[in-house]
Amino acid sequence: MEPLRIGLIGLGTVGSGVVRILLEQRELLARRAGRPIEIVKVAVRDLKKAREVSLPADLLTEDPLEVANAPNVDVVVELMGGLTPAKQYVEAALNAGKHVVTANKALLCQHGDELFRLAKTSQLCIAFEAAVAGGCPIIHVLGQTMTANRITAIEAIVNGTSNFILTEMYHNLEPYDDAVFKAQQLGYAEADPALDVDGTDAAQKLGILTLLALGTKVTPDQFIVEGIDTIELSDLGYADELGYAVKLLASAKVVDGKLELHTQPTLIRHERPIAQVDGPYNMIALTGDAVGQTWFSGMGAGQMATASAVVSDIIDIAVGRAQLTFPLLTTEPTNPLPLQPLEEISRRYYLRLNVEDRPNVMAEITGILGRNGVSIASVIQHEAPEPDDVPNPGPSIVPLVIMTHRTTEGQVRAARRELDSLRCLREPRITMPVAD
Ligand code: NAP
Ligand code: HSE
Repeated sequence: MEPLRIGLIGLGTVGSGVVRILLEQRELLARRAGRPIEIVKVAVRDLKKAREVSLPADLLTEDPLEVANAPNVDVVVELMGGLTPAKQYVEAALNAGKHVVTANKALLCQHGDELFRLAKTSQLCIAFEAAVAGGCPIIHVLGQTMTANRITAIEAIVNGTSNFILTEMYHNLEPYDDAVFKAQQLGYAEADPALDVDGTDAAQKLGILTLLALGTKVTPDQFIVEGIDTIELSDLGYADELGYAVKLLASAKVVDGKLELHTQPTLIRHERPIAQVDGPYNMIALTGDAVGQTWFSGMGAGQMATASAVVSDIIDIAVGRAQLTFPLLTTEPTNPLPLQPLEEISRRYYLRLNVEDRPNVMAEITGILGRNGVSIASVIQHEAPEPDDVPNPGPSIVPLVIMTHRTTEGQVRAARRELDSLRCLREPRITMPVAD
């Protein structure tokens, strides 16, 4: 059989993992693909850099267009990341008649619709299992095994780095910065880890899932995106005391014909399956009108888990499966849903305010919440040590944790604006929604 010839753009964390599988499992993959898979060209940024995997020097180039346009390449595997110039190389590959495999969620969230159209007009496919949830095959689920359903809700932990950091902080009392460093060392984080901890990466993945499952293109600038970078260990402790875990939850659901979307650190009851996903694992809960709620989980980040998804996509192309499923998976939305205005989003909330421990503070805060229609469900204020018997001690600062009844984002934002003007409040002021 003629081999399937692969050109790689990027030989970093994921690219090296892909090469390892392709070289180490050559015979097994050839059997599964029905033909040998051969690496014929690889683009990197810096030819002099030491590599984890050894490839003949003449395969390497610093010019990705050489890979995209190479006449002997059948499939271009884009693993360099980012929007530009990755988009240019993917377009060049498609224009040169090559199928594309990519793990690039930033690119697909922003330009997926455009690139999918370009691929379809040339009867080519883009396979992108690795772009969402790493090794957990959620794209195949949406394209093949949930097709009988109208999806009505997605709740997902899709950033392995954030979930790893929250887990390290909560279970091992690891300081935040140390946990971020560890996630980078383990190959979970993006080249710029700010994209993981500020919620952007999870929001981009939610954008891709929303396009596929709910037929509506959304980008992170259109909905609430917050990351775990403001959350402190004490928040995880208070949430626990109240019966909840804190997770970076990406959520999309249809409410009264509108699409409610957000990606935020969220309190989730401990007993719910998604609250129990720890470390770099991801979970996606899909609600289908026929099947009900279903949960899919697996390693969401890291070299070999992500490489596993990339190589499976390559095999799907070798066999011809991806060419069948891609056009149907990415059909043009016929009836995109309008987005629910964020002020109307209705949830319960966790508030942590650091306040001066003196008379009337509670009254000032509850007054503001009440005037804005925010009803309090419970309050935690642990007793602070009595100030020493010294003349004119300043007021001590104590955390005040408030759980609200269901209210709207608009009411909570209005209350927060008023709270910000109180002199008795200190930084930080933490607000997290509760996923009921
Ligand atoms: P990475 O380790 O930073 O690797 C990027 C590779 O691309 C490097 O080999 C780099 O070359 C090459 N590159 C960058 N810019 C280039 C340019 N202009 N021309 C030629 N080569 C260029 O990144 P990664 O973690 O493997 O991630 C790759 C993609 O997979 C990203 O889209 C990421 O979002 C996605 N992803 C990553 C994971 C994960 O767990 N890491 C999981 C799922 C998806 P040099 O080596 O010479 O610098
Ligand atoms: N940085 C990403 C994460 C990699 O931590 O989830 C997987 O897409």
